[in-house]
Amino acid sequence: MNHNDWITVDCVINGAPYRFTTSPAMPLAELLRSQGLLSIKQGCCVGECGACTVLVDGVAIDSCLYLAAWVEGKAIRTAEGESIGGQLSEIQQAYTRSGAVQCGFCTPGLIMATTALLAKPHAKPFTVLEIRQGLAGNLCRCTGYQMIVDTVQACDRPQE
Ligand code: FES
Ligand code: FES
Repeated sequence: MNHNDWITVDCVINGAPYRFTTSPAMPLAELLRSQGLLSIKQGCCVGECGACTVLVDGVAIDSCLYLAAWVEGKAIRTAEGESIGGQLSEIQQAYTRSGAVQCGFCTPGLIMATTALLAKPHAKPFTVLEIRQGLAGNLCRCTGYQMIVDTVQACDRPQE
């Protein structure tokens, strides 16, 4: 494949079927932002800050390092898709309530990383260490880490 060739990709974005044409080198973050999904932040663009975190088939990824061409047949979730009918998700509400949102730059990525973390099967609530390790790829320049951990704990419930 030539670097300049355009390819057509079919995927699902926030529950809706989606088709786009892209260059093979287009990062997913850029593609999604060009479609108006501006919750995805471009912080470092080298996979170090997590501001661009989205879910691809339920797995949290840095969309700045992930090619748009790779989402063929996959389901993408962004923070925009977490609120339904204008109603914020439980995790979004918890972030808002807890004071973990300061400038908010890291928040959409953290919401998606938290969503992926809490979706993992776990018999007991995550420990503080497990939460910190689970969100280690997401940096907060405002250093609200304790409030972020508190938020995740507030959302975490023992599973039956
Ligand atoms: Fe993707 Fe920083 S912008 S990890
Ligand atoms: Fe400002 Fe995290 S709230 S970067």
